[in-house]
Amino acid sequence: MSQNPALPDTAEAASGTAAPTASTSPPAPTAPIDLVVRGGTVVEATWQGPADLFVAGGVVQAVVAPGTAVPAGGEGARVIDATGLLVMPGGVDPHCHVGFTSGEFTSLDDYRECTTAAVFGGTTTIVDFAIPRPGQAPLAVAHAQRAKADQGLCDSALHASVVDWDDTVPDQLRQLVGEGIVTVKMFTTYRGESMADADTILRTMQVLNDEGGMVVIHCESNPIIEEDQRKASERGEIDAGHMHTTRSHLAETAAVAEVLSIAETLGAPVYFVHQSTPEAIDLVADARRRGLSAYTESVAHHLVLDDSHYLGEHPERFVCCPPLRDRATVEALGGYLFNGEITTIGSDHCCYDTAQKLEHPDDVRIMPNGLPGVETRLPVIFSEYVSKKGLSPSRFVEVAATNPARVNGIYPQKGTLLPGSDADIVLWDAAAAWTVTTEGLHMATDYTPYEGLDVVGRPVTVIVRGAVVVENGELVDATPRGRHVPAHAVDLTAV
Ligand code: URP
Ligand code: ZN
Ligand code: ZN
Repeated sequence: MSQNPALPDTAEAASGTAAPTASTSPPAPTAPIDLVVRGGTVVEATWQGPADLFVAGGVVQAVVAPGTAVPAGGEGARVIDATGLLVMPGGVDPHCHVGFTSGEFTSLDDYRECTTAAVFGGTTTIVDFAIPRPGQAPLAVAHAQRAKADQGLCDSALHASVVDWDDTVPDQLRQLVGEGIVTVKMFTTYRGESMADADTILRTMQVLNDEGGMVVIHCESNPIIEEDQRKASERGEIDAGHMHTTRSHLAETAAVAEVLSIAETLGAPVYFVHQSTPEAIDLVADARRRGLSAYTESVAHHLVLDDSHYLGEHPERFVCCPPLRDRATVEALGGYLFNGEITTIGSDHCCYDTAQKLEHPDDVRIMPNGLPGVETRLPVIFSEYVSKKGLSPSRFVEVAATNPARVNGIYPQKGTLLPGSDADIVLWDAAAAWTVTTEGLHMATDYTPYEGLDVVGRPVTVIVRGAVVVENGELVDATPRGRHVPAHAVDLTAV
């Protein structure tokens, strides 16, 4: 059920949107209009065209033909000139770790810091993770993480996580879904940390399938990885400079195949995070064609960066799982963005710094893995794929905002500019040329993996539930207005 009474209850009820026609008849707002975005090109996943937006009380009231008069009562509305800009739904980052502890390391940002970087990058909703440490209960961890949402500059949703099975887990899962935490992250790797066995994966999927939830899963076969790492260690090649040789394509493919088989046995939906190889995506796409609700997330760094970075000056800064792949694989992965097989793009944001990465420079098994990226996800993907390779802005919105909202059960409150949706809006300069530097970013770390990358396109003004938070590239409102967004049962019919 939508949290917003003005919204339809299901994604289907909200579909079928068409660009506004030349009509200038004013809409019937539910409250006096207090914000107008005029003169831009609205981009939704299903259409783009010149249109103005009327907003009241933090909610989109109408998408209207350019120049439509503001209805009576809205005379004092703030008007933002979006001439020459794209007007898109704020980004929804489906994969963002905030203050994430794994092994001996905790990533360095909190909700305020992470969401500050997010809004600078055009993202207005993050989906974080509540991952139990050994001995912790999923429900309690989710409650603790959810309580941090109000520190954010923008809204957040949450993936719970199950690592170990016990008799209390089914009731915890039912309660989580009932409270609007409907996606549950699982891992087939990271033994002794967050790895779940196949029994636990199957049982968790089963309960979630009954309740309207969904497993989201990191797939790399742990036995294959441990064997590859053992051999690499024997060769003296277990340092960051050999990261790409320690986690094979085969490890990813094998785990995806097993998890798909489990999901198919149950008829359960499943979402694969950070898929990094064409073979893995093909398995998921084939399953979807057989009728399974199976989805692919790709993350920005796998779509842009390649394994040559492991041969550079700072290989540790690129240590992530799965690792960066060779250039041919990166190019092939990008093709799946064009052919529709990639459902969402996440950041897999993990805000470690170089000092943390360098505590164990010679052993990727204990080095913290993960890259900072919540702020660069949208600009880098827009630049590399829309500006340089001709991906349509609508497809960009689909993978960066609309589909992430859909698969996480927060559409149409998030991920669209449909009337009734939260007025999370990004005004985007598609022609702005700039160079990514650490100094120019706001993440709580000392590096970006995209240092020196020339980029075309960037967010200019970012609006969170009707409040202008970033204006002309400057943070103008640091009020911690974040809310936890409860999800409804996942509805995958439109994805
Ligand atoms: O290397 C990564 N991706 N670290 C973050 C945890 C995860 O696996 O998503
Ligand atoms: Zn992962
Ligand atoms: Zn992750």
